[in-house]
Amino acid sequence: MVENIVWHEASVTKEQRQQKTNQKSAIFWFTGLSASGKSTLANAFNRALFDSNIASYVLDGDNIRHGLNNDLGFDEESRKENIRRIGEVAKLFVDSGQVVLTAFISPYIADRQTVRELVEADEFIEVYVKASVDACAKRDPKGLYEKAKRGEIPNFTGVSAPYEAPEQPEIIIDTEKYSIEECVEQLMTYLKER
Ligand code: ADX
Repeated sequence: MVENIVWHEASVTKEQRQQKTNQKSAIFWFTGLSASGKSTLANAFNRALFDSNIASYVLDGDNIRHGLNNDLGFDEESRKENIRRIGEVAKLFVDSGQVVLTAFISPYIADRQTVRELVEADEFIEVYVKASVDACAKRDPKGLYEKAKRGEIPNFTGVSAPYEAPEQPEIIIDTEKYSIEECVEQLMTYLKER
């Protein structure tokens, strides 16, 4: 696949960029059901990082599927490709010296593991945004659970497609128990302790 393509060494390294800006780069990988709060939380966390002068960026499933990944559906293969591409993009952000927050259901353990292995051990922080299917179906901000239950959306995560919860995430954020502000607080605490 990469035959006849030779890697070109960069003139500025990740380490040099990190030194200059005095920040470590990392991926905060938010995973959880649709309507669990991934995007809301990633965006609120992003705001807090911005206000603390930390360079960060959100990659969001619904948004990325409007552009870069608008050729992908929701069967297992497409989701795998979705996560593979986002993993590669996230790795570029890490190389650029930034903190990247990704908000994708990313339902398969194996796909998330593949991304984890793309970067250094301390650069991948898996954030399990925990909320039950019932709670998410009750929130149903986009009316998708209702549609899925009527059989109008095939392969809908939590209804007609699986969600494999992380076994050893770095962080678990329970959005049924805590407010968004409290959840952001938990993420900031993790960041500071690190
Ligand atoms: S992932 O499984 O491939 O990681 P991703 O996070 O990019 O999913 O996109 C999920 C979003 O797409 C959901 O928040 C929802 O708005 C929408 N969506 C549309 N169809 C489905 C489906 N079959 N299953 C889950 N989400 C869907």
